Amino acid sequence: MSKEGKRRVALITGITGQDGSYLAEYLLSLGYDVHGIIRKSSSFNTSRIDHIYVDPHTEGNTFFLHFGDLSDGELVSKFIYSVKPDEVYNLAAQSHVRVSFDMPEYTGNVNALGTARLLERIRGSESNTRLYQASTSEMFGNSPPPQDENTPFRPRSPYAIAKLYAHLMSINYRESYNMFCANGILFNHESPRRGETFVTRKITMAIARIVAKRDKTLFLGNLDAQRDWGFAPEYVECMHKMLNVDKPDDFVIGTGETHSVREFLEHAFSYMGLDYTDFVKIDKRYFRPSEVESLKSNPSKANKKLGWKPKINFDDLVKIMVDSDMRKLDLTPIGEGDEILKRKFPEKWWRTD
Ligand code: NAP
Ligand code: GDD
Repeated sequence: MSKEGKRRVALITGITGQDGSYLAEYLLSLGYDVHGIIRKSSSFNTSRIDHIYVDPHTEGNTFFLHFGDLSDGELVSKFIYSVKPDEVYNLAAQSHVRVSFDMPEYTGNVNALGTARLLERIRGSESNTRLYQASTSEMFGNSPPPQDENTPFRPRSPYAIAKLYAHLMSINYRESYNMFCANGILFNHESPRRGETFVTRKITMAIARIVAKRDKTLFLGNLDAQRDWGFAPEYVECMHKMLNVDKPDDFVIGTGETHSVREFLEHAFSYMGLDYTDFVKIDKRYFRPSEVESLKSNPSKANKKLGWKPKINFDDLVKIMVDSDMRKLDLTPIGEGDEILKRKFPEKWWRTD
């Protein structure tokens, strides 16, 4: 609720994605009216939010979905003017780094110009709408770790370059027009809802399929890359925090730990009593033309100014994701991941799946 006793209204682009689905659940749990933009698709693309969908005819419904696309400026205008959001969370993106090398123009249109469209429409609405921009640790590229808010950006992919344009535009609108624009520079965050082509989820799904005897081999690319992997539900809470402080600012969000893809493999396979070297083969197709070798956050600004500290570490994350993918194939999980969730989040606001 606002100070005047009105329900707060949030608009989420990318609501059908990993982060969008958790953020929608979180904001609903805080009493927001939540509007989300979904893309028209010939197949169902709402599986991550089906459990919170409410028939729009239901009295008191606070969750609304609208067809749209960030490449369509007219529609973006319509949403800003008709929904009149207090907070906009811009999570929509072509978010796959490898794919951005195959689709650089499209990636720029959505990730970079899509953000410009939103910023310009919010400015035109002369409202006090606050914008959260989903920036990324990929923008650091080959700047050596640890990376914080003052680390130079040296992006290495069309994805990261498009995101950097959006990041700088958001700062420019803050400085030029006094708009409340906050950039969350989030390091990799994963969950049971992670897209199936990102490396962590690809690994945990493969393990379940191997245990179920449906697969024998997992093909991967560069096993030496290092990432700072955190737990997505914790990260969406930060997005909300960033829009609910006095002054707009930019924050690095991560765990401060880094691990290689190989370490993720070792932990995940050995959790199920398996040796990854028996199953993993390298396929050059999954290498990137230019790679980001090592990401490791220094999240001290967020610790200090947002009071944020992650509860889930690397080992916890691996267990949570393997347990979940085992359950999805009707296999009995080891269960340590489920225990960690119960212990660390006694009042969990999201559905575990
Ligand atoms: P995700 O699962 O790939 O979700 C992306 C969302 O954007 C989906 O809802 C997708 O819709 C939507 N989308 C794609 N193109 C669109 C378009 N042209 N118009 C409107 N919507 C479009 O990504 P995520 O992991 O939740 O990440 C959320 C945001 O944070 C992204 O901007 C990502 O780049 C950024 N980010 C992610 C991480 C991470 O580790 N997860 C870290 C830093 C930053 P469909 O479902 O229809 O495809
Ligand atoms: N996807 C994928 N598939 N990655 C692989 C594979 C594979 O088969 N084999 C090795 N990798 C390596 C990649 O080369 C990369 O170094 C690392 O695993 C992580 O790849 P992804 O899981 O695809 O994530 P990402 O780090 O490229 O990008 C994610 O995190 C960014 C934040 O740093 C995405 O969520 C981006 O949207 C996000 O901005």
